[in-house]
Amino acid sequence: MKIGILTSGGDCQALNAAMYGVVKGLYKRFGKKAEIYGIKNGYTGLIEGKYEKMKCSDFENILKMGGTILGSSRQPFKKINEEYKDGKTKVQCMIENYKNMGLESLIILGGNGSHKTANLLSEEGLNIITLPKTIDNDIYGTDMTFGFASAIDRATEYMDNLKSTAVSHNRVFIVEVMGNKAGWLTINAGIATGADVILIPEIPYDIKVVKEHIHKKISQGKKGIIIAVAEGILTLEESKLSKKQFKEKRAKEEISDSAQNLEKQLQNEIDAEVRRSVIGHIQRGGQPSAYDRVLASRLGAEAAQLIAKKQFGYMVAIKNGVIEKCLLKDIAGKKKTISTDEEILVQAEMLDICLGR
Ligand code: F6P
Repeated sequence: MKIGILTSGGDCQALNAAMYGVVKGLYKRFGKKAEIYGIKNGYTGLIEGKYEKMKCSDFENILKMGGTILGSSRQPFKKINEEYKDGKTKVQCMIENYKNMGLESLIILGGNGSHKTANLLSEEGLNIITLPKTIDNDIYGTDMTFGFASAIDRATEYMDNLKSTAVSHNRVFIVEVMGNKAGWLTINAGIATGADVILIPEIPYDIKVVKEHIHKKISQGKKGIIIAVAEGILTLEESKLSKKQFKEKRAKEEISDSAQNLEKQLQNEIDAEVRRSVIGHIQRGGQPSAYDRVLASRLGAEAAQLIAKKQFGYMVAIKNGVIEKCLLKDIAGKKKTISTDEEILVQAEMLDICLGR
């Protein structure tokens, strides 16, 4: 029984833990009959036919390793039907290589974009099972993605460290957290670190409200104010612009990112020095947290169960603490963002955190 496995899109913690879970489960169910093929660098390896037969020992000590032992890459869904080679599209190449490899099934560890491609391959008749990975936690159909909990820890530790120097110098720090369309990471890390302001892409912010809140905190004697912002935040005004108008506005103002925009808006308006700090890719790097190791191993083990039951076309998910499966066609192309009346937002406001609204 030949089973392929690949990791696609931006990496995150616990990708290896999830593969460990899959492989342990497959060996448990099929013993030596299970032949695992590691496909290199995500869908790129499937398109180009780059893979390797894996040994059981390859997965033995990877539970706590960061990154992915298979490598990853981005293959944007919108380009997946473009011609790639000899008149064949990328999708056609992937199907051809799957068949040439004699795969019985393929396990894909990926985020939102990767799920659209996974669904397409499933519709084309390949036996696909997916696992939800991303630090953004924005995959529809699952309460949690693996990588998310570790990234919260990473961002929290970063902001905690920043906080001590912010207090010493009585500075206001704008901290950019990853997340272009979804603010799950920012709201959680922001609450964990006791941020004063948390801005997320789902709530276009009113700069007047933000300023008033900071003034209030300063007048109460607060030192070292932390403003946690997601990469993709927009002002109220910007949220009304078309994509083109938005790009033109940012270019004209020579603003490259939203945190910089906010810094400019606050500079000289606040009775404290305003600084900006970008956490960056360390949020995705390094060892997974214990929570993520457990979650990813459980999801992986369940993927092996689905293969044993020959149930394909599913993403393995966690719902209310229970590992479940959902149909790829029901979740592909949907994004799980924070609704503006989400409980966590209400509670953040009860904690006197300003959300810019
Ligand atoms: O999707 C995960 C993520 O880390 C996002 O939070 C972030 O916006 C993006 O990937 C960054 O991607 P890249 O590493 O390709 O710059």
